[in-house]
Amino acid sequence: MYSNIFDSHAHYDDKQFDSDRDGLLSSFEQNGVSGVICCGVNAESSAAALALSEKYGFIFAAVGFHPLNLDDYYEGALEKIKELSKRAKCVAIGEIGLDYHYEKESKARQIRLFEQQLALAAELNLPVIIHDREAHEDTLNLIREYRPRGVVHCFSGSAETAAEIIKAGMYIGFGGAVTFKNAVKPCEAAKAVPDSRLLIETDAPYMSPVPFRGKRCDSRLIPNTAEKLAQIRGCTAQQILDLTAANAKKLFNIG
Ligand code: NI
Repeated sequence: MYSNIFDSHAHYDDKQFDSDRDGLLSSFEQNGVSGVICCGVNAESSAAALALSEKYGFIFAAVGFHPLNLDDYYEGALEKIKELSKRAKCVAIGEIGLDYHYEKESKARQIRLFEQQLALAAELNLPVIIHDREAHEDTLNLIREYRPRGVVHCFSGSAETAAEIIKAGMYIGFGGAVTFKNAVKPCEAAKAVPDSRLLIETDAPYMSPVPFRGKRCDSRLIPNTAEKLAQIRGCTAQQILDLTAANAKKLFNIG
């Protein structure tokens, strides 16, 4: 059995967990899960992520507005995020970023909110958790401009893009997508990322690794992703888990 599973990106406030959230989260530690970063996607979800982190010792929270949740934004919402970020279990600003796959029309608004949250993270001296979907160029330019500490999560780009992100000082998070049959590019990127910048994640309830693809995902499935990363990088899955747990603790300043 695997141990030291640190899931650097999940959404346990999601309604898909409403029916069994507490039973599920209570089972994690006996299944080897030692840490989870629960990411908010708007003000309400950030508060819920924080509440979970205050209930479970192994959960830590990130607070922020996801680019696909622009419609939830209201005047003063960033003040609310700032207020939440000051609580002890908040370790990052996230999930923030750009998504041009589903939302091309709102590009300008997405960029504005992303920039405001990058500035907030700098002001609070917190790392960021970045979502980048089909927006590699703009994401990279803003990373270069704001120079945050943090992670580009659920990485889907090429090894070349990964190298640029690493050069800018960021970590890269890999999830279930590396186990998919057609995942050539993310696997090349996963091979090229140096040990010191590698993170592992679920994005639960989404992105279940093979053989659970399409089903609800949770942190207990991380070993399937770790086994694939181990195969790509030529080590054991437990070594991947130990490495990524140490990296997550370092990035998010968890003692
Ligand atoms: Ni996410």
